Amino acid sequence: MTTNRIVLITGANKGIGLATATELAHAGHTVLLGARDPERGAAAAAGLTAQGLDARSVRLDVTDPATVAAAADLIAAEYGRLDTLVNNAGVARDWRRTPEELPVEAVRETYETNVFGVVTVVNAMLPLLRTSPAALIGNVSSGLGSFSFLADPESPIWEHATLLAYNSSKAALNAVTLVYARALRGSGEGGIKVSALEPGYCATDLNGHSGHATAEEGGRRIARQLDEALAGPTGRFFHAEGGTYPW
Ligand SMILES: NC(=O)c1ccc[n+]([C@@H]2O[C@H](COP(=O)([O-])OP(=O)(O)OC[C@H]3O[C@@H](n4cnc5c(N)ncnc54)[C@H](OP(=O)(O)O)[C@@H]3O)[C@@H](O)[C@H]2O)c1
Repeated sequence: MTTNRIVLITGANKGIGLATATELAHAGHTVLLGARDPERGAAAAAGLTAQGLDARSVRLDVTDPATVAAAADLIAAEYGRLDTLVNNAGVARDWRRTPEELPVEAVRETYETNVFGVVTVVNAMLPLLRTSPAALIGNVSSGLGSFSFLADPESPIWEHATLLAYNSSKAALNAVTLVYARALRGSGEGGIKVSALEPGYCATDLNGHSGHATAEEGGRRIARQLDEALAGPTGRFFHAEGGTYPW
């Protein structure tokens, strides 16, 4: 991505979202940090603008359609288009609970953010994405949502294939990604490319900081995958270490 792009990242006040925002802002893009808490969002954006980067916070709770619509209105009024949407906001509610221990409410909550939230944000941002000459949607997924791995006892993620809400929400997100990739391939000037991205196992609040990589490494991987997603065909599932995942 060499020319300036208007980029919206959901859940960008901390973790991999903030790290991705930092990478993209350093690459010269205008970065809008979606945050459900305006104060946390403003603090994160201030950290970037203090470095001379082009960033601002936008209030956006992916489970609250009114805030999503207001964010779209703000972007339309102030920027007139959106080039890249990174659906990064995510939650994990299952840790240390087996499928039978996990209340269905926890599964619903997970889907509200990880799946329905993405659909809400994509649909609200589509008119703005259609005005971009080269629009891109990147959905931050996980290898933990790969059906191929979930079904394979020999796979590296088999031991983590126990998270009823998280695994299945990312598998649903992958299907959502492919359906949008197909539906939007002829949309706008060059079509809107849609791919699933994977930061790798990073130490963040989401997993009690148990990850092997830093959030900053995760952000660098997401930024690289966005470049590759924009340059190549739509509908891919990028691997943290390079290449792609089996769906
Ligand atoms: N960490 C990993 O190893 C890993 C691996 C693969 C994929 N991922 C994915 O990477 C993404 C980022 O996760 P992370 O590890 O950086 O976790 P994190 O540090 O917990 O950050 C999650 C972000 O999502 C935001 N968020 C949660 N619910 C939201 C909502 N309803 N509306 C708007 N924002 C919301 C959080 O905001 P608050 O601060 O307000 O809570 C926070 O900014 C997630 O989609 C996750 O599934 C992570």
